[in-house]
Amino acid sequence: MTDTKKTAQLSLNGETYELPIFSPTTGPDVLDIRKLYGQAGVFTYDPGFTSTASCDSTITYIDGGKGELLHRGYPIDQLASKSHHLEVCYLLLYGELPTAAQLEDFETRVTRHTMVHEQMHNFFRGFRRDAHPMATLVGVVGAMSAFYHDSTDINDPWQREVAAIRLIAKLPTIAAMAYKYSIGQPFVYPRNDLDYAANFLHMCFSVPAEEYHVDPILARAMDRIFILHADHEQNASTSTVRLASSSGANPFACIAAGIACLWGPAHGGANQACLEMLKEIGSVDRIPEFIERAKDKNDPFRLMGFGHRVYKNTDPRATVLKQSADEVLELLGVENNPLLQVAKELEQTALNDEYFIEKKLFPNVDFYSGIILEAMGFPTSMFTPIFALSRTVGWISQWKEMIADPQNKIGRPRQLYLGETARDYIDIESR
Ligand code: CMC
Repeated sequence: MTDTKKTAQLSLNGETYELPIFSPTTGPDVLDIRKLYGQAGVFTYDPGFTSTASCDSTITYIDGGKGELLHRGYPIDQLASKSHHLEVCYLLLYGELPTAAQLEDFETRVTRHTMVHEQMHNFFRGFRRDAHPMATLVGVVGAMSAFYHDSTDINDPWQREVAAIRLIAKLPTIAAMAYKYSIGQPFVYPRNDLDYAANFLHMCFSVPAEEYHVDPILARAMDRIFILHADHEQNASTSTVRLASSSGANPFACIAAGIACLWGPAHGGANQACLEMLKEIGSVDRIPEFIERAKDKNDPFRLMGFGHRVYKNTDPRATVLKQSADEVLELLGVENNPLLQVAKELEQTALNDEYFIEKKLFPNVDFYSGIILEAMGFPTSMFTPIFALSRTVGWISQWKEMIADPQNKIGRPRQLYLGETARDYIDIESR
């Protein structure tokens, strides 16, 4: 953050207030309003944070106009094609790409933490079998603070580091266990000879009764999905993690809060909602009906997997995933899958429709991820848990950055109060 010595003037009730302007390394300038209330006695109003920077950060940059996503400066398409998830985790956590020795050390540290406390197996058994895996995930990740006491002290940098590694290592195990529990199959222990993505597929799809071979092309596609969801600067769930953490809550509680936020259909829950929508549409001839519904102000229906708060041109993650979807479906011999036909036709129809053009609504990451995950054999209920395990590194990197920041203070927004002013209590007989 550079103090440019530039200021903006605000005129209010005959007074002029100078607002300092900060310049980022890239992106729009930021007005510093921190002293505004103290000096002018007014708040600013910005529900949904459409114009408000809630923090400074060096992790991820998005240019919504250009459709650009950078992690520590590196474009997402380069990371998706040349890197792999654990290397991206290192980059997000520590700021630089690792050397070969650093990567080996990091991978060893992560793989040594992939198992969960055995008592956690019993904890899982308290859930109903038909629980949504996201419900299980919120509960189990929150409960990690009850199992890993030695990494909950946020003032100890070593404990913060251990918590970060534990979360990145154990989220795939916990997500796979939530899945296995929901289908009544035994939990599968992690295998540390497999890479991060292959191990996740192994824990989800292998059974003790027979050998399971992880297809390297599917493992690569899985890994790419992890990379593409790894971080996305101050989105709703990341901001939730930061806000929860601003009170000093332990990392497992904060990540559980992020998972809860991610679950909603406007955020990570959109991948499940999108696939369910494609199934509901069912055939290409019904597409016009759903496009009309999406445009109807009186109908709450929205095209799931379309639109984004920041991207107004293209979602670069969707571009990579679209290509990946073609590869995976061809490999699995399902390229003529009717769902994919509906998805492709829906995309074309929407992209040529005046409403979607005018409002700058494009397919987002959730539009294609569901198609790939379904083809791989995941039920729709597992789509958002997979998003959650991928985003864990982003949440934890932002959490670590925030705690190390000397300016860190409790998040406490103000409000525009429109309720009653003070009035006297009325006894129940008199109401
Ligand atoms: N279908 C139809 N109309 C839409 C859609 C859509 N998917 N998205 C936005 N609009 C319309 C909206 O009705 C509004 O119209 P008007 O200006 O006439 O009131 C206009 O476009 C702007 O929408 P908004 O809701 O004010 O925009 P936002 O930035 O608050 O919301 C969004 C962004 C992603 C929540 C929204 O586009 C949406 O609900 N999309 C569907 C859900 C989805 O795919 N979410 C995943 C987002 S990407 C991954 C992630 O973040 O987890």
